[in-house]
Amino acid sequence: MPTTTAADTADAELARWRADTPGIASRVHLNNAGAALMPRPVYDAVTAHLALELERGGYEAADARADARDAAYADVARLLGAAPRNIAVVQNSTVAFAQALAAFDFAPGDVILTTRDDYVSNQIACLSLARRRGVVVERADELASGGVDPDSVRARIRRRRPALVALTWIPTNSGLVQPAEAVGDVCADAEVPYLVDACQAVGQMPVDVMRLRCDYLAATARKFLRGPRGIGLLYVADRALERGAHPLYPDLHGATWTDADSFELAPDARRFESWEFPVANVLGLGAAARYALEVTLATARDRGRALTELARSRLSELPGVRPLDRGAERGAIATFALEGRDADAVKLALRARGINTSSADRTVAVIDMDAKGATTLLRVSPHYYNTAEEIELLAAALGELLGE
Ligand SMILES: Cc1ncc(COP(=O)(O)O)c(C=O)c1O
Repeated sequence: MPTTTAADTADAELARWRADTPGIASRVHLNNAGAALMPRPVYDAVTAHLALELERGGYEAADARADARDAAYADVARLLGAAPRNIAVVQNSTVAFAQALAAFDFAPGDVILTTRDDYVSNQIACLSLARRRGVVVERADELASGGVDPDSVRARIRRRRPALVALTWIPTNSGLVQPAEAVGDVCADAEVPYLVDACQAVGQMPVDVMRLRCDYLAATARKFLRGPRGIGLLYVADRALERGAHPLYPDLHGATWTDADSFELAPDARRFESWEFPVANVLGLGAAARYALEVTLATARDRGRALTELARSRLSELPGVRPLDRGAERGAIATFALEGRDADAVKLALRARGINTSSADRTVAVIDMDAKGATTLLRVSPHYYNTAEEIELLAAALGELLGE
């Protein structure tokens, strides 16, 4: 009798993931940090609901699939180690982050403590609060290896207690994985509210809100989670719900207008949602969560990181290619400066050859890009369904393009 080895099982799993991913037939997709290729069950969940809306009407279709909608919340909650009552489904990660910020009544002089590697839109939101509300934006110091130093967060909290600590776990523009759990411990010990942008982490690696000890966590569906575009989520911890936290503008879904001059908040995180709801996308989000849980997040992390390390080492061998990633822990995003080349043009040339990557300019991360002396970068973000052969194809194509 033939025996089945671990390698056989791994091959069979990879074959199944790839069979579920029609996009790989015509392209090498290494832009999972932008928007991953959806697996078939996600596409089916979205399109089946749109078909039901076509047939029955939007509200009637929503009523018919109320159970599926509840299941989507349960699966998203399971993905994060939370309960369904802690999940708000919103348009995207940026809105999730803004809804969490809107739960705070910042006063002039209040400090938001963040990091040098926080996401561009989060930085702009904090700077807008500085401009409009007189908030002080502080950025904690970095470790020598890159990424925020949790000791610096602790020291700054002692010196001047912030109203909020906000941290982007995995920045959009570098392979860095920030020590989000260590910062969570610091915040929990000091009882300072903690907001985590896990947009690039959810679907890429295991995420457990209990270990992060965060009050809020923002994420999106379309990136490593492989969900549809136009949908995201906000986790809200029980302690935030219990202290009555709510966004500045709850609507009739998040609250009930009980009397002429009063309203009552929804008891759960849905107080952070809006009434209008893209049910098809929510069912797609649920399907994506289920798919990720079946693959397992540990597998996604390990395969994604191994392929990304391969990309780092193969591309770094090419003349004029400078790897930019820092950090003691590195995730499934690899970034490179291309000497004398505009990364956007190179990305488009790769795309014309059937290879999807992405590019960014300085304004996506001014602090980090200036420190690295880079004006544009090429970003390569493999996922578990990619292969080493695809990384070799990228390396060969980039080598040719740079040699032209
Ligand atoms: C780290 C990080 N946070 C937030 C976002 C914003 O996500 P969304 O476009 O879904 O609002 C991104 C998008 O690239 C990101 O990389």
